[in-house]
Amino acid sequence: MAKSRRDTADSYTLRARKEGYPARSVYKLEEIQKQHNIIRKGNRVLDVGAAPGSWTLYVQRTILKETGRIVAVDLNPLNINPVPFNVKSLTGDAFSPEIREQLIAEGPYDAIISDAAPMTTGNRSVDTARSEYLAEQVYALAMDHLKEHGNLVIKIFQGGGEQELLQQMRKAFVKAKGFKPKASRSDSFELFLIGLDRLRT
Ligand SMILES: C[S@@+](CC[C@H](N)C(=O)[O-])C[C@H]1O[C@@H](n2cnc3c(N)ncnc32)[C@H](O)[C@@H]1O
Repeated sequence: MAKSRRDTADSYTLRARKEGYPARSVYKLEEIQKQHNIIRKGNRVLDVGAAPGSWTLYVQRTILKETGRIVAVDLNPLNINPVPFNVKSLTGDAFSPEIREQLIAEGPYDAIISDAAPMTTGNRSVDTARSEYLAEQVYALAMDHLKEHGNLVIKIFQGGGEQELLQQMRKAFVKAKGFKPKASRSDSFELFLIGLDRLRT
């Protein structure tokens, strides 16, 4: 059977393997971080939709190192071994009452980053609606648990209410913008909404 484009290892996939990251998505966060400096040494970071764990590993390895703390939550367990001492991994629905209780205990956060995505069906309107719902839940979580001056990154599929969410973010942050990393696959319709410097609530 012929390989689909997604089965073919591209340069980002090969680089991720070489650098010991479990997913190529690490380079999307790297671009966001290099352009916007959303996470700083010593920060307390919440990573929503963290598995297999490349964003978490990138934050720990290259920014926090021995400082700060990352709380990584996903429906699935992380695939990083060993899990660094300053990473707390939670397995479950990020928006369930059980996980919410643990997120509150660990927070508030200097940065909340979310690459959370629904299982895609191939039906674009279903997928964008599910992504919009997830993005709205992440935004609500951030409004409860992100510190003043904190930064936020939310993934959303384009066509899923990103303009409305961006409008809300513009009222809650000094600056908010949409960002499409070069590392996103050419056929991907994902977009990252970035909120910088949360205003006082
Ligand atoms: C694209 S992957 C994240 C990749 C990750 N940033 C990395 O670099 O390894 C999207 C993740 O969102 C997670 N997800 C979707 N809905 C979720 C929910 N309600 N709670 C927690 N995680 C969720 C999925 O399980 C999936 O692992």
